[in-house]
Formats: sequence, C-alpha cells, structure tokens
Amino acid sequence: MMPNRLVAHTKRVLLRSTTGQSWSSKLHSTTAAVTRNDGQSGMPECDHNQAAYDGPSYQKILETRRTHLTPNLLAHFKKPLVIHAGHMQWLYDHEGRRYLDMFGGIVTVSVGHCHPKVNQALSEQIAKLWHTTNIYMHPKIHEYAERLVAKFPGNLKSVCFVNSGSEANDLAMLMARLHTGNQDILSFRNAYHGMSPYTMGLTAHSTWRFPLPGVNNGLVHVMNPDPYQGIWGGSACRDSPVQTTRNCECQEGCNAGDAYYNELEQTFKYSLPRGKVAAMFAESIQGVGGTVQFPKGYLKRAADLVRANGGLFVADEVQTGFGRTGEHFWGFEGHDYVPDIVTMAKGIGNGFPLAAVVTTPEIAASLGQALHFNTYGGNPMASAVGIAVLDVIEEEQLQRNSLEVGTYFLESLADLQQRFDIVGDVRGKGLMIGVELVGDREKRTPLATPHVLEIWETCKDLGVLFGRGGLHGNVLRIKPPMCINRQDVKFAVDVLARAITDSLDK
Ligand SMILES: Cc1ncc(COP(=O)(O)O)c(C=O)c1O
Repeated sequence: MMPNRLVAHTKRVLLRSTTGQSWSSKLHSTTAAVTRNDGQSGMPECDHNQAAYDGPSYQKILETRRTHLTPNLLAHFKKPLVIHAGHMQWLYDHEGRRYLDMFGGIVTVSVGHCHPKVNQALSEQIAKLWHTTNIYMHPKIHEYAERLVAKFPGNLKSVCFVNSGSEANDLAMLMARLHTGNQDILSFRNAYHGMSPYTMGLTAHSTWRFPLPGVNNGLVHVMNPDPYQGIWGGSACRDSPVQTTRNCECQEGCNAGDAYYNELEQTFKYSLPRGKVAAMFAESIQGVGGTVQFPKGYLKRAADLVRANGGLFVADEVQTGFGRTGEHFWGFEGHDYVPDIVTMAKGIGNGFPLAAVVTTPEIAASLGQALHFNTYGGNPMASAVGIAVLDVIEEEQLQRNSLEVGTYFLESLADLQQRFDIVGDVRGKGLMIGVELVGDREKRTPLATPHVLEIWETCKDLGVLFGRGGLHGNVLRIKPPMCINRQDVKFAVDVLARAITDSLDK
C-alpha cells in the first residue's frame, strides 16, 4: 500500500499541474511526502535485517580508488556510494541507508541480490568442487547445458559457455565469420555489444570507442531504426504499452519500419562486398543506448535480408534475456523471428561471471577448424548458479512478474509524462524501461546534463537508484531485479516525480 502521505503528495502534484500554480509556491506542500532516505519514510518495508558495515572508512576507500585503481573506473553520483550489502531489490550503503535498486547492477541482478536459493546452490557447489576446466567432464556443465538449451526454439541446441557479454559476442563474431566465409558484420548505430577490441568495433557510440587502428575492421554501422529520435517514427511503431509523442498516418503496417528497412537495403547495395555479409548483430531492445525499441517487424525482415545475402543473424540478449521483457523469455521472440546465434550474459548469472553463446550444431561445428578453449567458461560454480537462476525464474514466476509489474510501471510513468514536459518519452517492455528526459518536447532535444544529473541524484538521495543511458546520458534506465512489486513501483515513480518537481522549482 502507498502510505497516505504519498497519496496526498501525488494528489497535490496532480492538482498543481492542472491549476498551473507556480512550482516554487508549492514546494513546501510536497516536502513531507517523501523524506530523505535516512529516515526511510515512504519507502516500502523490508524485513531483512542488515548488519552494520564494518569495512574500511569512506575516506580510505576513496584514497585507494584514487591511488590504485585505473582512473577509467566509472563512479556514479557526486559523492559515490559505498554499497556493502544487498538483499533482493535492496542495497545498503556504509552508513546503513537502504536503497531501492532500479538498475540491478546494470541489468545483471535478475532474480534478486543474494537470492537465498542461488546463494545456497553456490555454497553447496563451493563445498564440493570449484574448478577443473573442461578437460574433465564435471557434471554441472552438462546438467546446465541441457536446462539452458531447452529454453530455445528451433535448432538452437548447442551452447558454449564463457564469462562475459563481450566474450560471448567475440565468439559469435568468430563463429559467423568461420561459418559463412564472409568478413563483414553489421550492427546498429547506438548499439552496445562490448568493450573487447573485437566488440568495441560493433559498439556504435563514439563515447565508448577508442581511436585504435583496426577496431572497425570489417564492421559497418547501419542506421538505427529508432522511432522516437530517428528520422522516421510515429505513434504506433513499437511493441510497448507506451508509444512515442510523434504522429503518423499509418493505416496498416508501419511506414517508419519500411523506411528504415529500405535504408538497410542501401547498405547491402553500396557498402558490402558483392552484397555479402557474415552477420548482423542486434540487441532486442537497445540497453546502454537508452532502451531503444525498433519498429515492429523490422528485425524479422532484417534477418531475412541478411540470410539472403549469406549471413547469420545474431540476437544479443545480454540485457533482454531471461524473462525481463515479460511477454517472452527472450527478447527476440517479441520480434517474431528465430536468430542463428544468441548471446547472453548479465542476468544469466544474477551477478556471477557467466555468459553463453547458443547456436545450431552446424554453426557450432565451425569452431572445430582450430583448437578453441576457455579456462573458466561453464565452471562448476557458474553452472550451479545458472541452474539456480533458471529454477528461481520458474518457481517465482519472474517472467510473469516482469510483465505485470513492468506494464504497471510503464503506465505509471506514462502518467508522469502527462504531468511533466521534460519527460519526453517512456518506452520499453516488462522490466526493461527507459524514460527520456528532454529540454524541448517538440524537438526532442536532450535535457541538459546538469539538469539530468540533479534529478538522478535527488532520486538517489530519496532512496531510489536509477541508471542512465543514451548517447547524451539523458535516458533514465529502469531495469531492476525482476522480484520488485507494485509498492516499489509506486515509491519509485513518486520519488521521480518529487525529484523532477524539486529540479523545476529551482
Ligand atoms: C547488450 C550488451 N551486450 C554486451 C555487453 C558486454 O557485456 P560485458 O560487460 O559482460 O562484457 C553489454 C554490457 O553492458 C550489453 O549491454
């Protein structure tokens, strides 16, 4: 239940936006609604009793970080958080504050921080056997392989385990090139597929690319079919409970989808050697790029085009897999096609370093051309965790929860969009959600970074951790552990409303 004060607060905000009173005159009427996180008021209850932090001081951690960790290490927030414990959808800082984790360790904590069943599976395995490398046939990898491939349609029956999403995509690139004999690989502008030297070339955000020779060897970035920010888009393009604010006159089908598809055809005509391609990679919903969804039907047609030109289609399910999109277990199922290769990481291990490439036995056979080896891939601990994660998703019906709670989330955010012009777009499916903050709703220009940071930071101070994404960092990314409930959603949306209000009042 939402506490009465929050209900009163929400009503006041709604009243304010309809009566047109000045923001500042009302600030004080809202301040009691959600108190700062140290008092925990307004925050949903949590029965977990977290022991106090007993590690090094904040100052000491900062000092070590400055002196001994590489300077590229990202840190969120002006005063970075020290997080020392987690329980399901909650995180705890060194001063005992509790936070609602709406980012899940970057879309990684799928079933909940320190989920008891996953913890138990891991400790049982740790007590028996940590590691042998796959030169011996330890049982867990076999048990897990069978469970994982059972989740796939068609002939996607062969799995190779690795340790990270970048490694999985590296391997998929290698397989596609070996299997087809072609070299060129397509990915979308605004895609993120990893940071290894191989996948950095697939990633198409200038901010994530280093100026090294060879990074783009054999790689082509194609126009992103983004119905909100792209040159074509409309009011019915995407598979989401919330559509863009753009208009279109489509009666049947999707004109924007057709236009983007025609553009892709041009790449085959003009950029690829004799139109031949090894593969095309696509996230089912772009993650780092800011939860960008493609027009319905586009990926299916793109996959057909790629295959007609000798290539394979690779679905990068690193963020969208394992039930997160709600309607389906895999994001690609929402696009109504079956890929040739699927890569997965993050949510597969609930935070344990585990990733995989699933493909057909024929494509997998191409790896037989030379020795191929991965020391840790599918080790007993990772496999035990992977099995437990699949069990929990099934037993706790987390895919269904993603659908129900995620749809409620999207609808609540759409209400927020009605109230605040700076909420330019709300999009996504299930618990894969983006909220794009804009400076000008008509022109869809990104909200200035200091303004975005202020809103984001206030949410943190009020007890809710959101992520940020998109090229300009102006999209709030909401991808929590899939165990969240409606109370959590109400709290998060109310906190966001409060943060936006505070920021507009300044
Ligand atoms: C869609 C996608 N693919 C691949 C990766 C790379 O995964 P990793 O960081 O585990 O290498 C990421 C990481 O954010 C991702 O979001």
